[in-house]
Amino acid sequence: MGLKFRDIDANIHALVATAGYVIGRNEMDAVEAKAIKRTLKKHPELMELYGDIRSDLGAVEKTLQLFADSPNQIISEISEYLFQRSGKRMRPALLMICSRIFDYRGDEHILLSALVETIHTASLIHDDIIDNSEIRRGQDSVHKRWGPNITVLMGDYLYIKTIALSLETSSPEFTRILTDISTQMIEGELHEYHRSGNLDLGEPEYLEIIRKKTAALFSAACHIGALLGGADPEQERLFAEYGTTIGISFQIIDDLLDYAGDHKTLGKPVLSDLSEGRITLPMIYTLNQDGGVFRDRLVKLFREKDDNPDAKREILDIVRSNGALDYTYQQAEVYARRAQSLLSDLPQSMYRESLYNIPDYVLYRNR
Ligand code: FPP
Ligand code: MG
Repeated sequence: MGLKFRDIDANIHALVATAGYVIGRNEMDAVEAKAIKRTLKKHPELMELYGDIRSDLGAVEKTLQLFADSPNQIISEISEYLFQRSGKRMRPALLMICSRIFDYRGDEHILLSALVETIHTASLIHDDIIDNSEIRRGQDSVHKRWGPNITVLMGDYLYIKTIALSLETSSPEFTRILTDISTQMIEGELHEYHRSGNLDLGEPEYLEIIRKKTAALFSAACHIGALLGGADPEQERLFAEYGTTIGISFQIIDDLLDYAGDHKTLGKPVLSDLSEGRITLPMIYTLNQDGGVFRDRLVKLFREKDDNPDAKREILDIVRSNGALDYTYQQAEVYARRAQSLLSDLPQSMYRESLYNIPDYVLYRNR
């Protein structure tokens, strides 16, 4: 196809129309349908959940793949590697559905969704360096394959490109939201890293960390979608809060799966948080359970975990057999139900239905 990444820079407003024009609308539909089908193949349950925004998600895939058209070979190679992978595309989907709730009929949701997904992707490649994660979505992480130096620069490139492209959209408010939540994500990630290995971390501090590192981007997706659709300030706040609650629920389940999940299904090793010293809700709960009966033992095992594989196994046994996983799940459920309750005054529609069902998907997912 003739559309190149630099064309995005040249004329972002015409992006979607241009793509349709260059390769023909019908052909474009087919390409998009194939792209999103490939992306969601591993997550068939999402197909139904995303309803009629699936075709627009296909256009988001095409937009993401434009990064691979860069004349810079490394950028092109890594972009192709990154954007071919089958993520759940939850943040773009939420942005689009939130815009549709307000009957948005323009085409800027495609670019803005791609930008939100790009920030997510960039944050994960940096996060994998910070967390020493060699596997992501069942494949080598970018730093495993290209090394940390190139990976840091690639992440930086994706962030700055995202912000530059957002400046070309119809409202500076989109850039303001994206820069604000990027700052929050960095603060959350720094906070988490700084408190690694500290077994005094409590639940409120844990929640503060995940609100920033994970929920802020979910919130931005929903906020931008609503804003695009013409939401008033109160509705903007409601949708931003809906995204925050989903994001918190999502990260609690992510942390639960690190103790309860299965390596193959997850596409990454279990107990990786613990291996890196990250203290998450299942561990926080167990440390404080019944007046801290397990605390001394856990502290000792935690100190030994790097040299003694049995120590990790015993931590896992203690966490799994004392109700921590149930507790963690219940907390994720509190936020998922809160998200749903925020929708109670919205009129019935298939988009409201999707927004209502997404928190359940977040709770029931196993990867
Ligand atoms: C995954 O958490 C990581 C995040 C949700 C956010 C990472 C944020 C940064 C690296 C800050 C930089 C961001 C910007 C926008 C400049 P996790 O490690 O718990 O999840 P995982 O198990 O999927 O790795
Ligand atoms: Mg990580």
